[in-house]
Amino acid sequence: MTLAPDAVRTMFDRIAPVYDVMNRVMTAGLDVRWRRLAAEAAVRRGDRVLDAACGTGDLAIADLKAGAGKVTGLDFSEQMLARARKKAPLEWIRGDLLALPFADGTFDAATVGFGVRNVADLELALRELRRVLRPGGRLAVLEITQPRGALKPFYSLWFDRIVPLLGKVLPGGSAYTYLPASVRRFPSAERLAALLRDCGFGEVRFRLLGGSIVALHTGIAA
Ligand SMILES: C[S@@+](CC[C@H](N)C(=O)[O-])C[C@H]1O[C@@H](n2cnc3c(N)ncnc32)[C@H](O)[C@@H]1O
Repeated sequence: MTLAPDAVRTMFDRIAPVYDVMNRVMTAGLDVRWRRLAAEAAVRRGDRVLDAACGTGDLAIADLKAGAGKVTGLDFSEQMLARARKKAPLEWIRGDLLALPFADGTFDAATVGFGVRNVADLELALRELRRVLRPGGRLAVLEITQPRGALKPFYSLWFDRIVPLLGKVLPGGSAYTYLPASVRRFPSAERLAALLRDCGFGEVRFRLLGGSIVALHTGIAA
């Protein structure tokens, strides 16, 4: 089941108040390190950086800490952005990742954290990110991926059973019932790497984090 963009936006508007807490709880705090690694993979000192699907702003703030000169956070959920605005005085823009409101080649680097899994058209999202990067600009995409190896059974228990239960006791819980299905539907790390190449990125690589629960993809705008 793929949710329509309006349904995704409404879902994030509803879970905004608990989003940060759920992130910390679901990942035992590892998400902070993952965002730092994503930011460091993409950002060089003084860069003009886009953090697309910025949500409550943690990855945009990590981009700034990694040395960015200017960071723009973009998201289509006003409630997620409202939380981001309270955290840091960056440029926060309401907009659609599938139709980015920026000229070609505007940014030196772009990051997306847990944002491409929910878009209606993944390929269009990657092409938009490529378009707004200058040639040679760097992209880092952090996303939940299908787990491999020994952790897989624990992951299924955690993600398919416990996380949706946790979600039920918190406002906006339905979003967390939807989460396992959205991960299952999302392409494997290898497939996402191939898609990035198809969408105009070179030197595409990925590393698995958190015992292979999360993939960090990087690429250079060709
Ligand atoms: C799981 S949150 C990730 C937030 C943040 N990047 C982080 O690292 O925690 C996904 C975000 O993507 C946003 N989003 C989903 N589709 C979008 C689109 N087409 N355009 C803009 N934002 C979108 C949602 O509103 C939500 O805030």
